[in-house]
This record gives sequence, C-alpha cells and structure tokens, in this order.
Amino acid sequence: MSILFSWENGNADLWQREFATRLPSQQFQIFPDVGAVDDVEYALVWMPPIGDLKRYPNLKAILSIGAGCDHILRDPDVPKNVPIVRLVDDVSVRDMSHFALHWALHFQRNFYLYAEQQRDGIWQRHSYRDISQHCIGVLGLGGMGTPIARMFANLGFEVLGWSRGRKAVDAVTCFAGLDELPEVLAKSTIVISVLPLTSETAGLLNCDRFSQMKAGSFLVNIGRGPVINDANLIAALDEGQLGAAALDVFDVEPLPTEHPFWKHPRVYVTPHAAGPTKDISAIKQIVGNIGKIEKGEDPHPVWNRQLGY
Ligand code: GLV
Repeated sequence: MSILFSWENGNADLWQREFATRLPSQQFQIFPDVGAVDDVEYALVWMPPIGDLKRYPNLKAILSIGAGCDHILRDPDVPKNVPIVRLVDDVSVRDMSHFALHWALHFQRNFYLYAEQQRDGIWQRHSYRDISQHCIGVLGLGGMGTPIARMFANLGFEVLGWSRGRKAVDAVTCFAGLDELPEVLAKSTIVISVLPLTSETAGLLNCDRFSQMKAGSFLVNIGRGPVINDANLIAALDEGQLGAAALDVFDVEPLPTEHPFWKHPRVYVTPHAAGPTKDISAIKQIVGNIGKIEKGEDPHPVWNRQLGY
C-alpha cells in the first residue's frame, strides 16, 4: 500500500519523514519515482501533472495540499469515482484572515495614500472613517470566508457575507444567491473575495458588478483570479469607480511580467501568498483524514462535485 506525493515545489523530504513516523505502514512515493501504480491508495497533490491521476486504479482518495481543488480539476481525466478531499487547516485560515485584515486596514487608514505621498515627500495627514463606518463584504462563506467574516465582526466592523446558499454567521448579515449580490456590493466599502473557482464564479466580478459597488470602494481578492475580469477591473479603477485593489490570485500564475496589474498605481500585487500551506499542520490534517478513511469514516472537507467546491 502506498501514498503518492505529487507537489513539484513541496518539501518532499520533510513530508516523507513525517509520514514515515505518522503512517509507517504506508510506503511514501514521490512523483515521478512511483513504483507499482496498483499500490497507490492515496494521492497527496498540488498541481499534479495532467493525466497522471488516472494511472492509479486503486486510489481511495485524492487529498489536495491546498484549499482549492481547481489545480486538480484542470485535468479532465481525474477519476470521477474517487473522493477529492480539500485542505482547510487552522493555520492557513488564520494567516488568510490576517492577510485580509492587513489590506482592510491599509485602505481604511489610507496607508496606500501615504505610500504615494512618501515618494514625493508630501507630509499630509488624511482623515479616515472609523471602522464602525466601514462595511466589509465577504464573498464566499466557506471554511475560509466564514472565519474571516467573524474576525472582522469581532473587531467592530459591520460585516456582510455573501454565499451561494444561505448561511448563518454570528454578527454577520448574510446574503445568498445572485439576486442578493448587488445589495452586498452597494453597501460594502471593502469587498473581500474568498470565492472558489466554479462555473458560476468564473468572471463573476465584471463591469456590471464593479458598477454596482460603492463608488471609491476597495477590492481584495484572496480566492481565485479568474473570478475577476481583469480588463473590467482596470477600467473600474481608471474611472475611479473603485479606489484600489489588492490582488493575491490571478488568472495566470505567476502573473505575466507584461500584465498591466504590475504597474497600475492602484493595484497591489502579491504572489499567491495570503495563506500558504504550512507543512506540519497540513500533514496532521491529511494523516487524520487518511485515518478516517481507513476506519470507514468520511474525511473532511470533501470537495462537492455538484457545487464545484
Ligand atoms: C491556495 O490557494 C489553496 O487553494 O490552498
């Protein structure tokens, strides 16, 4: 019985050592040095090569080394009858929350204006709206979005949450479905997208949505890049409809050097760094999920084929 580890830039030695201690009965095979394909029962993957996962006929589960599963599903031949288990670990959730908070404060306290002023040696203080007058709109209320929304509410922000199906989150006013999205966009001063990439979210934030946003409001994207229409976002920033955007995820990653986001004065680019997978907490969660499957229990959270997340 063996576990396949397929993460090109991962720390394979560390994962191998940890698995040798935590699951000594399983052999640990590091892609591309995979022995008998029939032995592979679990595939631990980040961006597995297209066409590879179909080579293992006895897979019990594919375990994503990340919260999103689009890096797996870009392969049309991923076996349809094998559960895909997502990774939502507390450390990444905490770090994503802090990342979102950083940008919210950056915009609320005008740090983006001070950075511009410093370049020109301008000493000019700007007034700022109290956090109680800021409304944070969190798009996506799953394992990442819900704690982010809660954190902002606990800090005293007014928080609106939006998701596909209706959710209830303490101290957060929840909205659901496309019909209710315009209200969230119209009321929010800072919109934070944590949306996964699905057929329903691709291109969701386009010129119509930007025109529904409050004039001068801010956008933070820590979900998936293709949810945003890049050209429409640049137009909304150039027209002043949006104040600024902090983007961590992109349609194409790494963001191509010629992409206009790099040089746009009101776009802040980070290299998909909001909540990187932390090896040890990820390993604990994955080992726990393998343990559950071995005992005949359901792993958690399982990617939902119907919903696409
Ligand atoms: C990162 O984007 C992830 O899916 O974990």
